[in-house]
Amino acid sequence: MLKKMMFIVISIFLLESINAATPNSNNFDREQLNFINGLNIQRHNFANHTVNMQKLVWNKELQDIAEQHSLSALQSNGWRIVVATNYTNGAQNLYDIAIWFLKDSCPKNEEDRHLESKFFEHLNPLQTIIGCAKKTENELLKGYTVMCLLSPSVNLSLPSCAPFKSSCANGFEYKDGFCSNSDLPDSDQVMFISALNEKRRQIATEQHIANMYEMVSRKSTPGRLETLYIATMMVRNLIQIRKPQVVAKHCSCEM
Ligand SMILES: *[C@@H]1O[C@H](CO)[C@@H](O)[C@H](O)[C@H]1NC(C)=O
Ligand SMILES: *[C@@H]1O[C@H](CO)[C@@H](O)[C@H](O)[C@H]1NC(C)=O
Ligand SMILES: *[C@@H]1O[C@H](CO)[C@@H](O)[C@H](O)[C@H]1NC(C)=O
Repeated sequence: MLKKMMFIVISIFLLESINAATPNSNNFDREQLNFINGLNIQRHNFANHTVNMQKLVWNKELQDIAEQHSLSALQSNGWRIVVATNYTNGAQNLYDIAIWFLKDSCPKNEEDRHLESKFFEHLNPLQTIIGCAKKTENELLKGYTVMCLLSPSVNLSLPSCAPFKSSCANGFEYKDGFCSNSDLPDSDQVMFISALNEKRRQIATEQHIANMYEMVSRKSTPGRLETLYIATMMVRNLIQIRKPQVVAKHCSCEM
């Protein structure tokens, strides 16, 4: 209840703030959120083909890295990547590929199954954060215009061919169709807070405010702003990016 209220308060406050921003600087990417939501529905659908399937939550740092670097540079540094056609149809397209994989490729021998992890990383159960960027077809593949980075797992663990009674191991708890070991925020919430922080930084620069936190603590509307600040800190502490060190080029899956 308190969480729900907090989210409503945060949303209203952030919506006000984001609406006040100019259209191209609001940093709130509804298209990308819908796409991530689509990937989470798939993860949900594939939960019976894997263990400990976790929800993906949008992450600003991963988005920034995806925006700034090329696919090949990121691949050679061992980043876990998935590419999609576009934000509108991309999730469906990846779903079709995964279904094809389960139907067509599963009866084949291990050696005949050369899977590109860039079409399956979003089904890797142990990934928990994702950030995407628009790219050109030339940078990716013909027909593909979206690239996402996922973290923190360095290894691809693919869905098994046959479904089984999915379970949550090692301290993971089954919650809303996912296995979770913590109370993860959702992507909308994280992106709202990120967009607000961006806005606050912008205001701080424009108004030459050296310490934005003091403005947040001002007692004019203490309840709201303090709640927001606490929520922001909570989210920051929850998210840790680990840069992968191992590159698994092809499927090292257990079938
Ligand atoms: C998105 O990609 C699909 C193919 O998967 C294509 O048919 C559609 O026109 C694209 N939509 C946009 C808005 O580019
Ligand atoms: C990833 O895979 C490699 C090689 O199979 C293995 O040695 C390593 O322990 C794995 N790492 C994690 C975090 O599972
Ligand atoms: C999928 O997993 C759930 C939860 O363990 C279980 O209730 C259900 O029977 C499983 N479905 C299949 C097809 O194995």
